[in-house]
Amino acid sequence: MAKVRKAVIPAAGLVTRFVPATKAAQKEMLPVVDKPAIQYVVEEAVRAGITDILVISGRGKRTIEDHFDRSFELEYYLETKGKYDELKQIREISELGSIHYIRQRDPLGLGHAVGVARQHVGDEPFAVILGDDIMVDDGHLLGSMLEVHQREDASVLALLEVAPAEISAYGCAECDLVVDDDSLRRVRGVEEKPRPEDAKSNLAVIGRYVFTPGIFDALDQITPGVGGELQLTDAIGLLLALEPVYGRVFTHGRYDIGQKLDFLRANIELALDRPDLGPLLADYLRALVRDRLT
Ligand code: G1P
Repeated sequence: MAKVRKAVIPAAGLVTRFVPATKAAQKEMLPVVDKPAIQYVVEEAVRAGITDILVISGRGKRTIEDHFDRSFELEYYLETKGKYDELKQIREISELGSIHYIRQRDPLGLGHAVGVARQHVGDEPFAVILGDDIMVDDGHLLGSMLEVHQREDASVLALLEVAPAEISAYGCAECDLVVDDDSLRRVRGVEEKPRPEDAKSNLAVIGRYVFTPGIFDALDQITPGVGGELQLTDAIGLLLALEPVYGRVFTHGRYDIGQKLDFLRANIELALDRPDLGPLLADYLRALVRDRLT
């Protein structure tokens, strides 16, 4: 069975939830602590053994491309100043696997963005990783989804239990339990952003997917759905009629950096984990709580 070698990162959507920061800048380039969000996502893919990454970009293609490219000018500057730690970090970014770019000319929806990857991916299984969901779990979720794919030769979705009122912000999966594996589900149906009163479950589809190449034929058949967009969820619904689809339920480690509060949470929690920033930030937060929040 083919091993998953490729990942697709759709990063072309227009963002209205994070203006004005994203008026000209891509939301995937927003820094979380000191790294752009998309770098976390690329590092996660590389950690899970994926060596070929395709970024589907829109207007901000150049900035993303420059970020993962060599920067001889900056490297030269850091070297002459003796800033070797920074130099190492900068070089490591440009050595993160092989990264390719395609432009999605029209923002017609996530389903359209993934369809644009067909020629590059070919007849192979592949992962889709949404650039606005950061997973801080050492690649555990993606790694375990790849294992399920390898074992079952099937597509796998990442599922998170959300409060019933929140399901209308997500794709919703109706699932059966799987014997002997508490966090695995057999997906029976999916619906994009249902009203809470119509939702078949409170399991939300989150931005990690492993697909068999069958998803491309399904993507060819979908018509505009919720919001007038070509929805990936609708293609998954068509795929389900032809092939088994599994879901891996996870509980922690996700930050939706497209949401302002989650973006702030990601910055604080990731900085707390850093040896160079954590202790000082913890002192600051303790003083802040004492002086302003109690
Ligand atoms: C997209 C998908 C949705 C999924 C979500 C995960 O929605 O269409 O099915 O649940 O990502 O973050 P969006 O957040 O682009 O509205």
